[in-house]
Amino acid sequence: MSETIYDVPAAWAKKAHLNDAKYKKMYAASIKDPDKFWGEQGKRIDWFKPYTKVRNASYKPGKVSIKWYEDGTTNVAYNCVDRHLATRAKQTAIIWEGDDPSESKKITYGQLYTEVCKFANVLKANGVKKGDRVTIYMPMIPEAAYAMLACARIGAVHSIVFGGFSPDSLSGRIEGATSDVVITADEGLRGGRKVPLKVNVDAAAEKVPVKTVIVVKRTGGDVAMKEGRDVWYHEEAAKVSGHCPPAEMKAEDPLFILYTSGSTGKPKGVLHTTGGYLVYAAITHQYVFDYHDGDIYWCTADVGWVTGHSYIVYGPLANGATTLMFEGIPTYPSISRFWDVVDKHKVNTFYTAPTAIRSLMGAGEEPVKRTKRKSLRLLGSVGEPINPEAWEWYHRVVGDRRCPIVDTWWQTETGGILITPLPGATKLKPGSATRPFFGVKPEIVDAEGKVLEGATEGNLVLAESWPGQMRTVYGDHKRFEETYFATYPNKYFTGDGCRRDADGYYWITGRVDDVINVSGHRMGTAEVESALVAHPKVSEAAVVGYPHDIKGQGIYAYVTLMSGEMPSEALRKELVGHVRKEIGPIASPDLIQFSPGLPKTRSGKIMRRILRKIAEDEFGALGDTSTLADPAVVEDLIANRQNKR
Ligand code: WT7
Repeated sequence: MSETIYDVPAAWAKKAHLNDAKYKKMYAASIKDPDKFWGEQGKRIDWFKPYTKVRNASYKPGKVSIKWYEDGTTNVAYNCVDRHLATRAKQTAIIWEGDDPSESKKITYGQLYTEVCKFANVLKANGVKKGDRVTIYMPMIPEAAYAMLACARIGAVHSIVFGGFSPDSLSGRIEGATSDVVITADEGLRGGRKVPLKVNVDAAAEKVPVKTVIVVKRTGGDVAMKEGRDVWYHEEAAKVSGHCPPAEMKAEDPLFILYTSGSTGKPKGVLHTTGGYLVYAAITHQYVFDYHDGDIYWCTADVGWVTGHSYIVYGPLANGATTLMFEGIPTYPSISRFWDVVDKHKVNTFYTAPTAIRSLMGAGEEPVKRTKRKSLRLLGSVGEPINPEAWEWYHRVVGDRRCPIVDTWWQTETGGILITPLPGATKLKPGSATRPFFGVKPEIVDAEGKVLEGATEGNLVLAESWPGQMRTVYGDHKRFEETYFATYPNKYFTGDGCRRDADGYYWITGRVDDVINVSGHRMGTAEVESALVAHPKVSEAAVVGYPHDIKGQGIYAYVTLMSGEMPSEALRKELVGHVRKEIGPIASPDLIQFSPGLPKTRSGKIMRRILRKIAEDEFGALGDTSTLADPAVVEDLIANRQNKR
């Protein structure tokens, strides 16, 4: 592991919000007296009725309850839009860069106000009320942000489903959120290709009841509109006013649900609420990205993931920032696209995923070096561990050694960034997410839950609540408690392994549960397995991750066929296609190994440890195999392994 240390650049030390001493002082204060710290920080947003209580959180087994600012009332859209109008009506709120470089536009805060109010009125006119769940299945167009803010404005709860998910995944999420309104577009556009969003919604709506589908026109592609169910957004918007009063929301009223994969069962509906979430998104956006008025800020995520929620829409807009929304992909129309966009819009802060860096690295320096990137001041990384090699390349080639990199560790569940460097304050070590943000108390525990001190390695837990924390699994509080608070009582268990070095820096080592991280996207191995066994020719399947040069982890599936079925190249392709159809392209297995049997204990439990080792091509170190029911199975697995190096 690399231990090169990058000092805070002198130019940064001068104008950054923080330096090391300030960080240490504020951090100590935030841990010593969280009520005081967060009581003050809560004021960074506007409240209709101020709160008198700050924190009310308990991780007690059976009684987990998390509340922040509970007696205050506010509105997220009001904070992200209206309150900026007095000073920023003419400032750009959103820069939209289309898939095709000839298409881009700027939306001012004044325009954003009108667009959000109109969208809110369209929702109301279509029967959406406070507390209703609205599913959003959209491409990366400004209307996605308008729709989110419109929900927030009237107190509806949005549930965004990433546009890359299949109709089956979409219908499961519509059903899970009991949402009878879906907002979509005719088609999406990515890398010059059309994504059939409306067609997918139609297919999903065959499986679950959907009352209303609001369709935004993006490509003008020919789509079928179902009478009595589907309406065109532009036709509805033409009928409504550009003003809509923001609903007065309690701090703990739900803001959104976002489905995410876990180690078992179906994806969970992570529920975030209003006040604490917004305070946390805003404070982290300010300090982590050292945001100053006038900065042009670009996060390349999709609004279908939490990164898009907190760091394209809510955090930046709460701070009155200019946020860039990109419809396309890093390689279209050329492999210089990211850097062309940086130059075109004079981007100062650029936040992306390691997988993108690794794939661009493969094309060499020239596509980067042919662009200027003079406006860049800060680079960010999120979603998975960044290997020191990719970090160094990002720093040297993209940032010209001038821009610090913030390697931000967090999760859908955490609402915002928890472990991260703070530019101006933190010396950097490539591959380390470094130190905790204010109010965050990480601990490393062993398998029994014993807290380990000093330089050590184990499982990462969080001992204190923070305002952006998820509040429950939508509709299943018991699952919330069991997933996050049962492994280590009185602590939030992250599911990540972690090392802490002698300087107190944290190094995330990856998931310790049956979740894999493919290109920064979280995938439950159980979900891929159940998609595979749903295929009529498959009798059994076990899925594990393996190291993949670009994706971080790839999906390795062991498949046992029904008796009488023969393995073939055609069947392999059919199974990959089947998983894509069931879940979406992000779940496509990279490698499939047909195996006559899986390694099981005598009680029938699959020994995943062995499958992982074989997938990693590390079969020399299988460990204890004495409990295997049939050791011959392992020999066959090794002989036919798919990841020979
Ligand atoms: C999991 C959460 C956070 C938004 C995007 C992913 C991994 C995330 C890092 C990082 C090492 C990271 C963890 C975490 N992860 N950021 N900087 N370094 N690992 O959100 O889909 O909820 O996934 O992503 O394993 O638990 P998510």
